Amino acid sequence: MSEAITNEALVEVSYDDLIPNNVDLSEDKALRRALEKWQPDYVNWWRDMGPDGFQEAQVYLRTAVGVDKQGWAKFGYVKMPEYRWGILLAPKEEGRTIPCGKHKGEPAWQEVPGEYRAMLRRLLVIQGDTEPASVEQQRHLGKTCPSLYDLRNLFQVNVEEGRHLWAIVYLLQKYFGRDGREEAAELLNRRSGNVDKPRILGAFNEKTPDWLSFFMFTYFTDRDGKMQLESLAQSGFDPLSRTTRFMLMEEAFHMFVGETGVGRIVERTCQAMNDAGITDPYDVEAVRKLGVIDLPLLQRKANFHVSVTRDLFGAEISTNGANSFNAGLKGRFQETKIDDDHQLLNDSYSVLRFKDGAFVEEEVPALSAINARLLDDYIKDCQGGVNRWNKIIEKAGLDFQIVQPHKAFNRNIGEFRDVFVSPAGELMEQAAFDARREAFLPNQQDYDFLSSLMQPVTEPGKYASWIAPPKVGVDQKTGDFEYVKID
Ligand SMILES: [Fe+2]
Ligand SMILES: [Fe+2]
Repeated sequence: MSEAITNEALVEVSYDDLIPNNVDLSEDKALRRALEKWQPDYVNWWRDMGPDGFQEAQVYLRTAVGVDKQGWAKFGYVKMPEYRWGILLAPKEEGRTIPCGKHKGEPAWQEVPGEYRAMLRRLLVIQGDTEPASVEQQRHLGKTCPSLYDLRNLFQVNVEEGRHLWAIVYLLQKYFGRDGREEAAELLNRRSGNVDKPRILGAFNEKTPDWLSFFMFTYFTDRDGKMQLESLAQSGFDPLSRTTRFMLMEEAFHMFVGETGVGRIVERTCQAMNDAGITDPYDVEAVRKLGVIDLPLLQRKANFHVSVTRDLFGAEISTNGANSFNAGLKGRFQETKIDDDHQLLNDSYSVLRFKDGAFVEEEVPALSAINARLLDDYIKDCQGGVNRWNKIIEKAGLDFQIVQPHKAFNRNIGEFRDVFVSPAGELMEQAAFDARREAFLPNQQDYDFLSSLMQPVTEPGKYASWIAPPKVGVDQKTGDFEYVKID
């Protein structure tokens, strides 16, 4: 969650316009024209690439009605194509200044600074591209939902990712004129996993074939989203800062879905093992016979999602990272709470590198290590939920721990892209790594097993064999509430 959101009086969202907003859209004719032209293309994209088979279903969704922390959303049944996507910015902080880089202390920009226009547009496009990508990746999951509760949560995540796309498109269209409008159109033209027009970043072209993948994705990969948004929330370009601060409020829910989803799977597995008197987590055959997901498979899935997500942070040592920080376009995680000069011209940061066949911690200029630091913050941020999963296992009296793999494991970008390292961090020859690949990462048998479990459960209050019910329902609803009405 962004700490920067203030508890100001409710900032009402105008629903009078075609597009709900708190940016006075009715007064801004040029922007309104651009957005109203883009909207039908967006809805067409949603119908083509959004949740497959559920466009007519009534879904119990949360819609934003204001932008303060307390009263920002209301719940009700909605058909997804009729969801009130809109443009919502966190309230303006009067007198805000640029928090970092060479312009530190100057008033935050309300317009795009000309010298950074191209850099800023690129940042927006890369962030914006991930939003529709995840909707595309998740579009087939509805057909195998483990419950109506989970189905509803999937759709809530999907419509909010759709709104995140709106958020970025607003910035492109309002502040970048013609090329902004072109980029906005392109955001609807790329497709996740498409050979000719793929999404920009690797992890967003991977498949999300089953619900375990979905929960791992929302826990680990949406958390990359959180970290990137946190760094953009520190932007000296104030409209970007305000936009991302509101997006972060939605992002928190996505990670909640991931953490509790994996947690409920862990809980169900431990319970089934205990009931059957199985004490060895590695007795995979016996565990799978119970119709639950074995703990070693959860570890391999975590290894996969963690490592591809770490690649999203870019090279640890990076001139781009230095430039955008120095320009004041993005900051570090919780920049304003860090106790230093926020310019970093004389500072260093310790980065794990691979040199002359060994891992070394090296002090490098802090400016060039902006990405490395954000990755470190991300790894720390991931650990809380992992600890809570392990608590469930420990409580059940089983001897197993889920761990984050070594930073260098299975990386394709940055310092470690050319080395072969086990999840525990031992250096390996490529042949040795390949021989153990199926123990480190999900293998075909794992995927076949997962896919055999993916049978839809759509009776209110019922859950698939492999996942425990949630502790509490959405919006205080109890057990058999019909979160999605499918006809
Ligand atoms: Fe998002
Ligand atoms: Fe998200």
